[in-house]
Amino acid sequence: MLKNYVPIFVMLPLGVVTVDNVLEDGDKLVKDLKELRAAGVDGVMIDVWWGIIESKGPKQYDWSAYRSVFQAVEDCGLKLQAIMSFHQCGGNVGDVVTIPIPKWVLEIGESDPDIFYTNLKGNRNPEYLTLGVDNLHLFDGRTAVQIYGDYMKSFRENMSDFLETGLVIDIEVGLGPAGELRYPSYPESQGWAFPGIGEFQCFDKYLQAEFKEAATAAGHPEWALPDNAGEYNDTPESSEFFRSNGTYVTEKGRFFLTWYSNKLMIHGDQILDEANKVFVGCKLKLAAKVSGIHWWYEVDNHAAELTAGYYNLKDRDGYRPIARMLSRHHAILNFTCLEMRNSEQSADAKSAPEQLVQQVLSGGWRENIEVAGENALSRYDSVAYDQILLNARPNGINKDGQPKLRMYGVTYLRLSDELLQKTNLDIFKIFVKKMHADQDYCPDPEKYNHHLGPLERSKPEISIEDLLEATKAEEPFPWDKETDMSVSGGAGGLVGLLSNLISKILALFK
Ligand SMILES: *[C@@H]1O[C@H](CO)[C@@H](O)[C@H](O)[C@H]1NC(C)=O
Ligand SMILES: *[C@@H]1O[C@H](CO)[C@@H](O)[C@H](O)[C@H]1NC(C)=O
Ligand SMILES: *[C@@H]1O[C@H](CO)[C@@H](O)[C@H](O)[C@H]1NC(C)=O
Repeated sequence: MLKNYVPIFVMLPLGVVTVDNVLEDGDKLVKDLKELRAAGVDGVMIDVWWGIIESKGPKQYDWSAYRSVFQAVEDCGLKLQAIMSFHQCGGNVGDVVTIPIPKWVLEIGESDPDIFYTNLKGNRNPEYLTLGVDNLHLFDGRTAVQIYGDYMKSFRENMSDFLETGLVIDIEVGLGPAGELRYPSYPESQGWAFPGIGEFQCFDKYLQAEFKEAATAAGHPEWALPDNAGEYNDTPESSEFFRSNGTYVTEKGRFFLTWYSNKLMIHGDQILDEANKVFVGCKLKLAAKVSGIHWWYEVDNHAAELTAGYYNLKDRDGYRPIARMLSRHHAILNFTCLEMRNSEQSADAKSAPEQLVQQVLSGGWRENIEVAGENALSRYDSVAYDQILLNARPNGINKDGQPKLRMYGVTYLRLSDELLQKTNLDIFKIFVKKMHADQDYCPDPEKYNHHLGPLERSKPEISIEDLLEATKAEEPFPWDKETDMSVSGGAGGLVGLLSNLISKILALFK
């Protein structure tokens, strides 16, 4: 039965290490970590913020506060997933803390605002550097990719003891806003609200120049970036670009969308290659996160995914090429919105999180990579837990060995006093046990078929043609109707009814 075990991690609160690089309340951290360990949790995840560590100046890293956190996690017997967070914290759903990217980088942006993602109207977004500067020596002689590489190198050197003891089992490499491989197409800071289609973000001068060059090389110097794709809160039908038979289906539209989505993939590929060079030989896995853009999934144009850089249509798989790119780096594909059900979404968003999850996970499995995931919003009810359990083992458990399909791990968002409050914690513990397929906590990943051998060097580069081969749409693997390892004990189970009732009552008092 252990081969059915799916380890469960919990995200540490934002702000464990403050923006001033101090571990403020170490005692509370240790107390909470012990509770998590007692609840059966396998490990925790922490964002390692660029804006905190390299805030003093180029290459002036200060790891001391993080070392204390890592030590506490190790002392409590938990494993650690570390996120190389090269983005700003603040400006996205659930961000309660603001951690800008380093000041010396923002200062470069004062004289050269084109280092940031920019929309058609010229609004800049300081959350993350545009991928247009990945290979430009604009930062004290370094390129953006070199900055990311140097940062990870310093992490590896400074944390080498924790890497050797096996504390850090997973490095997720931040590849965009919110740490996700995407464009910042739906920033709340610029007035976006759910379920707006968002906007393309390729109007900084560097990406504009690159597009001009690409269009010219393709024999169409007259093609320009789209100026008819609407605004943040539009519906697809109201824009010329996305409406039925709109620009997006024309040759020009397809050329742009291919360029826009390929740029994103190449960006991820290059930074993961750096990460792989840095961590090669360490006993850990690399991971990259793909965003769960579930709104407008049900309409032909998939507008919100397209503006985010996922060129996904009914007859074109926009995610599997990303999975193929990750496969060369032995990286895990990390996805989100595992807890969401279609029935919970408002009908006008044309949202289909369940089908989206199935498509993305299936694409990853078909490319023979591991897939992991997280919930997108904080939830304490059994309905959400059961949906996560279903996605973790879509065809249930296998009493005689490994289940047909199994996620590599799930990270629960997020540690809070609310989670540790008794009713919530009681249900959460059942959830952990069910993730573990009713087995006791297992400290040795080998026992559940997770081989953490030394990270191998990335395989040779995959040509863009070969990556795009993976756009051929295929039916996702079939999912069972409901999970055989449920928290509620099946639909209408007593625990489920109670937990839902309790969370509804609690919600009234918020
Ligand atoms: C790690 O970083 C801390 C603070 O930044 C420093 O004091 C320490 O010497 C570094 N250790 C190693 C092994 O680099
Ligand atoms: C997946 O992403 C979430 C959110 O960033 C993170 O907490 C988790 O550790 C990631 N999982 C892996 C396997 O990297
Ligand atoms: C879109 O174009 C196709 C093929 O030209 C046509 O059959 C279809 O009716 C058009 N749809 C709309 C909504 O205009």
